[in-house]
Amino acid sequence: MELPFAESWRIKMVEPIRKSSRQEREQWIKDAHYNVFQLPADQVYIDLLTDSGTGAMSDRQWSAMMMGDESYAGARSFFNMRDAVERITGFPIVIPTHQGRAAENVLFSALVKEGDIVPGNSHFDTTKGHIESRKAFAVDCTIDEARDTQLEHPFKGNVSIEKLEKVCEENKGRIPFIIVTVTNNTAGGQPVSMANLRAVRELADRHGLRVILDSARFAENAYFIKTREEGYADKTIKEIVREMFSLADGMTMSAKKDAIVNMGGFIATRHEDWAEGARKYSIPFEGYLTYGGMNGRDMEALAVGLDENTEFDNLHTRIHQVQYLAKKLDEYGIPYQRPAGGHAIFVDASKILVNVPKEEFPAQTLTVLLYLEAGIRGCEIGYILADRDPVTRENRFGGLDLLRLAIPRRTYTDNHMDVIAAALKNVFDRRDEIKHGYRITWEAPLMRHFTVQLEPVE
Ligand code: F0G
Repeated sequence: MELPFAESWRIKMVEPIRKSSRQEREQWIKDAHYNVFQLPADQVYIDLLTDSGTGAMSDRQWSAMMMGDESYAGARSFFNMRDAVERITGFPIVIPTHQGRAAENVLFSALVKEGDIVPGNSHFDTTKGHIESRKAFAVDCTIDEARDTQLEHPFKGNVSIEKLEKVCEENKGRIPFIIVTVTNNTAGGQPVSMANLRAVRELADRHGLRVILDSARFAENAYFIKTREEGYADKTIKEIVREMFSLADGMTMSAKKDAIVNMGGFIATRHEDWAEGARKYSIPFEGYLTYGGMNGRDMEALAVGLDENTEFDNLHTRIHQVQYLAKKLDEYGIPYQRPAGGHAIFVDASKILVNVPKEEFPAQTLTVLLYLEAGIRGCEIGYILADRDPVTRENRFGGLDLLRLAIPRRTYTDNHMDVIAAALKNVFDRRDEIKHGYRITWEAPLMRHFTVQLEPVE
């Protein structure tokens, strides 16, 4: 008999989590104005709000933390982290920052100016924010296939080379760099193929441009290249990762994802001129160049995390779990962005709550219903997040309306996945009776989803 799949780790420390009653949750979500960001975490049973900073560190990471050197300048822990980053990515210059958006803030302060155009594949919100706040424009060149959630495509995160070519042709002299996000979070944690990264490199070379990888989930991307792209099955994850970064000029990193730490990030590059520009902003924004907002102990944990999470077994365990949940949803006929991505399942609310008008936010409604059903906290990646058009102030209803179930790394078991799937099925089975969603009673002028207040439409 063939042995079944099992995790590549065992559990040494546990953290109790608490179930609640439906009655309690009804009160709590009302108190939170029907916005799950406003819920105290103790009111959540299974927390799928994000996979960022919520992973479980290993015994090796915890023991490395005891070796942290907290010297202000020149800490040994910085050199350990720098060496690990260089070994894994090939980039010799490393500037630490406290998280991914800080890496964007520091590097873009040096590179992006008013009127610039920054093309890429679905920029993450903070990336877009750091471009737009400098009065520059983020142009999304993701392939059209990504917009059809039911279409199977192995690399739905890819950049459309035709779209990118057109943007580069029409904006000569205004493009500071191209940014490719691996994996493409906004499109559903979808990977970018090596062939696509190579095509972006060739295009950039032809136009004399540089390429940044927004690398939060680069290791998961490498896993998909190994398992889906021809010619990579026999390569190690570390070999694939080196090849990915050889096609770029630099990276911004949220280490809270694929380096499996609770906080941390960095910029890495092979270009001294970029580093020189970034250093000017790193010191006032983040801190001195050998800590940049991080503790010595956190830099040690980051170095170990990068090494561990570029091993196949660790990634296989992780992505197998996401695919396990996807298979359950397939059994129940629940539609999501196909195929399942690396870090999350993006449930297609607009295909489930078909009776809820878009003005009443179907994905937000599904998010609240899943919480009420079982205390599971997902998050809306839909019309509320899409915000209003800056000029017309109209809601932007043009994109997808999804409920993201982000799976923290090494944190929950497949039994939790069974609970999530069953809870979602219970809501799904009642979908025809659900005719109304929520209306906004208060919202912030920017990034409204964190603090928006809602009330049910009766
Ligand atoms: N880039 C990508 C692709 C991300 O997904 C994130 C964060 C960032 C940059 C910013 O990094 O949070 O360390 O400042 N994504 C989290 C999420 C918050 O839930 O998807 P950060």
